[in-house]
Amino acid sequence: MTERLAADPAGISRAGALLLGGGLVAFGTETVYGLGADATNPGAVAAVFAAKGRPRFNPLICHYPDAPSAFRDVAPNETARRLARRFWPGPLTLILPRRPGSAVALLTGAGLDSLAVRVPAHAAALALLRAVGRPLAAPSANPSGRVSPTTADHVFAGLAGRIDAVLDSGPCEVGVESTVLDLTGPRPVLARPGGVPRERLEELLGPLSLAETAAAPRSPGLLASHYAPALRLRLAADSVAADEGLLAFGPPLRGAAVTFQLSAAGDVMEAAANLFAGLRVLDEAGARLALRGIAAMAVPADGLGLAINDRLTRAAAPRT
Ligand code: TXA
Ligand code: MG
Repeated sequence: MTERLAADPAGISRAGALLLGGGLVAFGTETVYGLGADATNPGAVAAVFAAKGRPRFNPLICHYPDAPSAFRDVAPNETARRLARRFWPGPLTLILPRRPGSAVALLTGAGLDSLAVRVPAHAAALALLRAVGRPLAAPSANPSGRVSPTTADHVFAGLAGRIDAVLDSGPCEVGVESTVLDLTGPRPVLARPGGVPRERLEELLGPLSLAETAAAPRSPGLLASHYAPALRLRLAADSVAADEGLLAFGPPLRGAAVTFQLSAAGDVMEAAANLFAGLRVLDEAGARLALRGIAAMAVPADGLGLAINDRLTRAAAPRT
């Protein structure tokens, strides 16, 4: 059975003990819920891949309570130090060369010589990281390819019975995953748009190039389906049918069977926080009302809108 733990000292201490014993515990962060395991324990990390059905070539992010502990496992360059000072704790993941002496299991980084590290801006997650005293490998706590969880109930819906516990800290504030920045090459590359807007990084780093896999809107055909609801998703809808659910942004189109409003005021931060819950609500309505699909209204690509468009494009990608 999967335990539900309160995000109080007793719950955090129980979660820490389970993790130190090699167990799997999902926990809230400011972005989405992560499925945590002791990153130094290869058996626990293998269990994360198994619980999610995640291919073993897809590396996990390591979470730390602060920058100095992260930089014991990876070698930061000057850019990494500046970014860490400005954005940690926060929704930014840095990919850096792994230090040869690191205790992090090779499987955590899928055998690569780089490692993704981040310090979450979330009180319960930080308390858990301090209680464990080891880095936590934590991918989003959903079955591989499906919609990421932003509440403890979402985690139970996808992984109940397959993990030891969920540390319930309520809904996630940001609602989309961290921005992933690859610092292993000659120039920083935006590998995944996320909770820290591209514009804020560019203030510090100058113009950033987008990794090919993150250039979603330009190459949807190359994308593997990800963040996928059960219903088909139609992007940039300017009309909606009576047998479709509507994911609205701003004044909603008329005529949908059911509407989920991301942000009535057209605010991309509010929309990001509501995005994954909205896909789930429409999916459930779809099953109940035998809907044909979801029509998503256009969202501008500035600020967190870039991450929203990335997730929606992947959710709409052809299923294999
Ligand atoms: O907000 C987040 O980042 C959440 C919370 C739980 O922290 N975690 C998360 O993990 O989104 P996950 O596993 O769903 O996404 C991690 C992404 C994947 O796209 C993975 O391929 C990439 O980071 N990644 C991890 N390590 C990498 C590495 N060494 N090189 C390149 N990409 C890497
Ligand atoms: Mg994920």
